[in-house]
Amino acid sequence: MKFFIDTANLQEIKEANDLGVLDGVTTNPSLMAKEGITGQQNILNHYVAICEIVDGDVSAEVIATDLEGMIREGEILAALHKNIVVKIPMIPEGIKAIKYFSNKGIRTNCTLIFSAGQALLAAKAGATYISPFIGRLDDISVNGLDLVAQIRQIYDNYVFDTEILAASVRHPMHIINCAEIGADVMTGPLSAILALAKHPLTDSGLKQFLADHAKGNN
Ligand code: E4P
Repeated sequence: MKFFIDTANLQEIKEANDLGVLDGVTTNPSLMAKEGITGQQNILNHYVAICEIVDGDVSAEVIATDLEGMIREGEILAALHKNIVVKIPMIPEGIKAIKYFSNKGIRTNCTLIFSAGQALLAAKAGATYISPFIGRLDDISVNGLDLVAQIRQIYDNYVFDTEILAASVRHPMHIINCAEIGADVMTGPLSAILALAKHPLTDSGLKQFLADHAKGNN
């Protein structure tokens, strides 16, 4: 399973990248705004800065919701760097844009997926990735992991190449459960990635090892 980090914070991206396990980055307009990145040129520069840190796919989201606008923005984004994946919302015009980019060999990430039908449509249009938002489904008492499993089955039935990018991951159990289901990618915060490494028995065991080593070497 590929690990993406879901942030526009350069420090966090560097920290995750330094772990040596980072395969890419996802961003969205809210994450850019959270970092205070505003204005088209600043946003484009920020995507380039992210691409210079991580050697992996970087999702950059279009703001337009009409087909022409999505195509115009997507082409500008895709030209920024070879690793940019154009992120497009799951709306009818977005499906057309995904098909357009797929025909041109430009990779896409269909975002805001909340149902299996949406995932099926995006795959048929040729999306490179689809992003089911599991945390946001959990927030409304719908099991987000069930959706990932349902999409996995559908994609396997028809051998779609589209990769399932489990998004809106909130905690380490989401990551583990996505791996069990067979999501191709997960994108989550640095905290969830780092939490995978934590275990109290690791901490106490290491403390004991170091204490015993120190005793023997005094
Ligand atoms: C996915 O690409 C989105 O950026 C993201 O995962 C949304 O997560 P949230 O529900 O934590 O905002």
